[in-house]
Amino acid sequence: MICIGDETPFDVAAREALLDVAMGPDRKLKSSERLREGQDPAEGLALVARHIPVNGPARLAGTVRLWHVLAGDVPALLLGPLAVAPERQGDGVGGALMRVAIARARAAGHGAILLVGDPEYYVRFGFSAAATAGLAMPGAYEQRRLLALELAPGALAGAAGMIAAPLAAVEDGVLEDGVVARESGALRWGANLLPHAA
Ligand SMILES: CC(C)(COP(=O)(O)OP(=O)(O)OC[C@H]1O[C@@H](n2cnc3c(N)ncnc32)[C@H](O)[C@@H]1OP(=O)(O)O)[C@@H](O)C(=O)NCCC(=O)NCCS
Repeated sequence: MICIGDETPFDVAAREALLDVAMGPDRKLKSSERLREGQDPAEGLALVARHIPVNGPARLAGTVRLWHVLAGDVPALLLGPLAVAPERQGDGVGGALMRVAIARARAAGHGAILLVGDPEYYVRFGFSAAATAGLAMPGAYEQRRLLALELAPGALAGAAGMIAAPLAAVEDGVLEDGVVARESGALRWGANLLPHAA
C-alpha cells in the first residue's frame, strides 16, 4: 500500500538518499536548487509517499516539496524536486504526489505553481508553458521546460521577469511562512507581516 502524507524530520535522510538515487549526483547544481537554498518548504507542502508492506517497515517511495517564490512581482509556488524511488517508478506514485500537492496548494489559497520539468509528463496535471513566456529562471534551463499551473484563473497574468526566492526579512518587519516582500518594502503580500519587537 502507498500512503501520501506530510514529511517529518525522520524522513529527511531517506528523502535525501532517494533524491540522490533518482536524480543523480548533479541534482544540487540545478537552477531550481538556487531558489530553494536556505528556504523552508511552504506550509503543508512537503509531502512523501510511503510504501507500507503487509509485513515489514514502511519505506520512502517518493517525495515532493513546494516553495514560495516571486514570479516577477507575483507570489507563486515552485514545485520540486519530485522524485520516486526507482523500484516504484511507473506505479502511479509520482501522479499521486502531484495530485495531493496541487489539491493542498489550491486549498491553501495559492494562486499558481511553477516548475522546471518535462512538459510530456506534467501536461497531465494541467501544467503548460502558456503562462511562463515572460518569466525566467536564474541559471541554465530550457524555456520550454518552465511550466506553470494557475490555481486561480489569471493568477500569472502580467507576471514577467526573474523568478526569485522570497526574502526572509525586511527592514521594518519579520516575515513568516507564506509572506514575501521586496527589499524596498514597497511590495508586500500576506497577513503575517509582524512588526519588530521594540
Ligand atoms: C518523473 C517521475 C517523478 C514520475 O513518477 P512515477 O511515479 O514514475 O510516474 P507515474 O507512475 O505517476 O506515471 C507514469 C507515467 O509517466 C510517464 N513518465 C514518467 N516520466 C516521464 C517523463 N520524464 N516524461 C514523460 N513521461 C514520463 C511514464 O511513461 C508513464 O506514462 P503512462 O502513464 O502513459 O504509462 C519519476 O519517474 C522519477 O522520479 N524520475 C526521476 C526523477 C525525475 O526525473 N524527476 C522529475 C524532475 S522534477
